[in-house]
Amino acid sequence: MSIKLVFLTFTCFVLNLLANGHVIQHGTIEDLLLTNHRFDVENAPVNDNITYYSYHIHVYFLQKNENQTNEATSLRNRFIERFNVDSCNDDCETWCPKICHWDLNMAPIGPHPIGSWGIYLPLEQFIDAVSFISINHGNLTVLLHPNSGRPKIDHLLNAFWIKSILPLDGDQLSDIAPPPPHEN
Ligand SMILES: *[C@@H]1O[C@H](CO)[C@@H](O)[C@H](O)[C@H]1NC(C)=O
Ligand SMILES: *[C@@H]1O[C@H](CO)[C@@H](O)[C@H](O)[C@H]1NC(C)=O
Ligand SMILES: *[C@@H]1O[C@H](CO)[C@@H](O)[C@H](O)[C@H]1NC(C)=O
Repeated sequence: MSIKLVFLTFTCFVLNLLANGHVIQHGTIEDLLLTNHRFDVENAPVNDNITYYSYHIHVYFLQKNENQTNEATSLRNRFIERFNVDSCNDDCETWCPKICHWDLNMAPIGPHPIGSWGIYLPLEQFIDAVSFISINHGNLTVLLHPNSGRPKIDHLLNAFWIKSILPLDGDQLSDIAPPPPHEN
């Protein structure tokens, strides 16, 4: 092979790796807000027969930035008031009796790499709640993921993002979560 061909092959190979997201660049959180990531879900169970029992909304903010924190808490208060949301009594990993919110996280927690707040969202309220977040998210990044009883796949593979894609810590997500009580 000529040097040119070897070089071309190598370049195409590297570009392909980059395009497929196999090369993950590390940087500050601001850099990460702008980069695209794929995640290793090789070991998570896949199944053709999937039911989405509910969704979670996670709203992210740079917790050391006063403007972002103010904007996030203000959106949270408006959401809670608009949808009359009580505190979650449970982790609501696949199902809870009604819409609810978790505590505000002023630091990374679980798979979440920066400050966040979260909502457990029943399917019945999907359109209203997602429309509200879509219209009012402002400068904030939002993750909307389904709950099918496969937290890793639900968060890393089948989720929706608004504004940016954040690198979640997949090691903090289990492969399987119990189905809702009424499905047992
Ligand atoms: C899918 O799962 C549901 C509920 O567990 C069950 O009723 C249904 O028969 C399953 N369908 C297939 C094609 O396996
Ligand atoms: C917060 O917003 C104000 C007004 O837009 C701006 O002047 C200030 O630099 C911002 N602060 C940070 C930390 O981004
Ligand atoms: C988004 O950021 C800009 C620039 O800091 C600010 O002027 C604007 O008010 C922010 N939006 C919201 C909804 O807070």
